[in-house]
Amino acid sequence: MTTLTKIALGMMGALRPKPATGDSATSISLPQPAVQGGLPLMEALALRHSAREFAPEALPMALLSNLLWAAYGINRAGGGRTAPSALNAQEIDVFVALPSGAYRYDAVANRLDLVAASDLRSVTGYQDFVDEAPLDLVYVADHARMGLIPVAQRESYASAAAGAIAQNVYLFAAGNGLATVIRAWIDRAAIADALGLTHDQQVLLSQTVGYPRTAA
Ligand SMILES: Cc1cc2nc3c(=O)[nH]c(=O)nc-3n(C[C@H](O)[C@H](O)[C@H](O)COP(=O)(O)O)c2cc1C
Repeated sequence: MTTLTKIALGMMGALRPKPATGDSATSISLPQPAVQGGLPLMEALALRHSAREFAPEALPMALLSNLLWAAYGINRAGGGRTAPSALNAQEIDVFVALPSGAYRYDAVANRLDLVAASDLRSVTGYQDFVDEAPLDLVYVADHARMGLIPVAQRESYASAAAGAIAQNVYLFAAGNGLATVIRAWIDRAAIADALGLTHDQQVLLSQTVGYPRTAA
């Protein structure tokens, strides 16, 4: 779908998911993430960049598991995560839009839980590449978990936490030959509707990930 079509549909409140392709499994157990090795941090930083041309090939499950762990996995005893959050509220949920459905990443169970049995990649942003890339992440703040944070600060704190997750994904992508771009130009109402979010849940950002498209 072109960007113009998406903008028009968005203005009409009609930017909707497509039917899922493949098996919309209720839950997907992720392989144990490989949490050692990888590119040295300084080399990953030297390679970090935004890219907007993606090949359609799906990421293997092991790579997806590693990516999600890098993004926001549990990295220590006590349930600490790979990205910070104010007062350790851990208010961000990472949703994963795949052709087979939209899933919520459960970092504790290392599992993806189905939230919508439809392909809502195209709903995750106005730019056309989001439709065909194999994976779009959506970062959602759950305000119900931020009870100790003053109301006026919640959105900015959650946005900072989502930004840290996004940078984790950038660095993982840099170290694993993947392309990625964080995106704020999104139709938040359409995404919230497609994911079936509650009033406590706020869509903050989306991020596309995939193999870079190479010239034919
Ligand atoms: C908060 C934020 C929102 C962004 N939104 C978009 C977006 O909607 N679409 C897009 O293509 N890039 C988006 N970007 C990526 C920037 O365009 C990109 O980071 C910038 O051009 C610098 O390029 P680099 O990331 O390769 O260094 C966003 C970046 C940030 C930090």
